[in-house]
Amino acid sequence: MKTVKIGLMGFGNIGTGTYKTLEMNREIIKKNTGMDFVITRILEKDTERERGVQVTRDQFTQNPEDIFKDPDISIIIELLGGIEPATSFMLEAMKNGKHVVTANKAAVAANYDLLMDTAADHGVIFKFEASVGGGIPIISALTSVLQANDYMEILGIVNGTTNYILTQMTEFGSEYEDVLKDAQARGFAEADPTADVEGIDVANKLAILMTLAFGIRVKPEDIPRVGITGITKEDIQEAAQKNEKIKLIAAAKKDGEGKIEYSVKPMRLPADHPLAGVSNEFNAIFVRGNAVDELMFYGKGAGPLPTGSAVMGDVIEIARKTIQ
Ligand code: HSE
Repeated sequence: MKTVKIGLMGFGNIGTGTYKTLEMNREIIKKNTGMDFVITRILEKDTERERGVQVTRDQFTQNPEDIFKDPDISIIIELLGGIEPATSFMLEAMKNGKHVVTANKAAVAANYDLLMDTAADHGVIFKFEASVGGGIPIISALTSVLQANDYMEILGIVNGTTNYILTQMTEFGSEYEDVLKDAQARGFAEADPTADVEGIDVANKLAILMTLAFGIRVKPEDIPRVGITGITKEDIQEAAQKNEKIKLIAAAKKDGEGKIEYSVKPMRLPADHPLAGVSNEFNAIFVRGNAVDELMFYGKGAGPLPTGSAVMGDVIEIARKTIQ
């Protein structure tokens, strides 16, 4: 049986969730693919943290070159987060002939063309399913089974942290600060949760979705954006009295002339709107294509295991395509 050796960069919440997904399902993956997947090296400073996984000290390194130059490693997973050094590491991995998988929406949104072109130039595969919607296979859907469509509209809840905060404030009257801490403890929030609550994370994800659906490059910082920090308990109560819920919505729509209009902002939705029923860390993405018509994708958009599921899915897909 072939062994597929993987290098992991970043062993935080998502790195641990990816490792756990593989530990939990190694046998079933072996049975389904005929390959054994092993994370052999991990780039991480914090070697002491208790992660609840079996990992040996010699798997850790603090030198990325140990992973780039390891001839046995064929796939590198980048889960450091942030634009740099993550982008440079991914490019270096590709230049060393490694396939790359990431969940890093900030890096993909900022450097999409550079990453895709470098992968193509070096004959390697670059995949980023986990960058939008956590466990929801929205990237695969848009770029494979739905690719015969002219996309008309994308509308969604694509940030688990803010949806968790808004849900808890709405359902239980919880305090913003308490729920944010809870979301951090559950591994939903970014290292700096400002990116979540100010809508920056949503703008990164919308930029990626617009690239894939409409073929346009919009810098995340050019997307009109309002986060949830200005939403008060009173706003939520007032909406509830009118049978409405407040949700942070990413929207992109093609107008009659083919121009795309886009925004990230909190919106009041009637309680019977399909997106109003999306609670906690769940995400949902509504897509309208001219052939398929309306579709809705729903699932856990944040959290170690749902995101780990998408990361490992990409890894397995690459191995199926490249390893005989
Ligand atoms: N911080 C992100 C969220 C993680 O809450 O949705 C998943 O991209």
